[in-house]
Amino acid sequence: MECIGIDIGGSGVRLGQVDVTTGALVSEVTMLKHTTETSANAILANIREALKEFPEDLPVGVGFPGVVQNSLLKTAPNLGSTWAGTNLSHALRRPMIAAINDADAAAMAEQAFGSSKGENGTVLMVTVGTGIGTALHRNGILIPNLEFGLLAHPTRGGCLEEHASGRARTMDNLSLDEWALRFQEVLNVYEAEFKPDVIVVGGGITEHWEAWAPLVTVQADIRKARFGNLAGLVGSSLLAAAKTNR
Ligand code: BGC
Repeated sequence: MECIGIDIGGSGVRLGQVDVTTGALVSEVTMLKHTTETSANAILANIREALKEFPEDLPVGVGFPGVVQNSLLKTAPNLGSTWAGTNLSHALRRPMIAAINDADAAAMAEQAFGSSKGENGTVLMVTVGTGIGTALHRNGILIPNLEFGLLAHPTRGGCLEEHASGRARTMDNLSLDEWALRFQEVLNVYEAEFKPDVIVVGGGITEHWEAWAPLVTVQADIRKARFGNLAGLVGSSLLAAAKTNR
């Protein structure tokens, strides 16, 4: 039982083949780089090309950094304006395509096989990469497309991800200590608003977990995503499996 997972991010796309009964990768991860200037058409053409390296008959799941409804991309705050309205099933020209927000995909992987496996209560996933992605499971049920990275920052103006995403860390030249203070502000908002029992943090920032995690304080049980920055890829393959009853 294998499916292909694709994670479209702000600076690249990851593709891989996953055993959906365990969440384990059974192929190398293909990485396709892009910038915010790269058009949707160019990125989609790269993905179509890369998909040729994988078996044709496998269902494909895609995690996308924006609001996704039934394979239709509605927003893409970090990828430029050429994505909204794209239907991924048509654009990737494969019969079995399922798509979902990237943080929702990551949370599916963690809930099925990772750090929040089998957790009930309120589980908040926060992915920190180019943007800040969020996903909420309540008693094992995912509530999709929440976009809490776009909530207003209580003191700095703009939205939360503008101040604490990976892009903000680079743009504002923040040390990990400085970034951790910014992330604390984000976590304070989430704890006040949603009272999560568990917070799972994923995305590129988990590479530095040991350096910053001791610097943040939360009421919830905070955990590092087991799948790190592969959570979106693994989760989207699980979505593909669920949609095709594999
Ligand atoms: C988008 C989210 C996405 C997050 C992480 C945000 O800018 O609004 O949909 O999950 O970035 O990629």
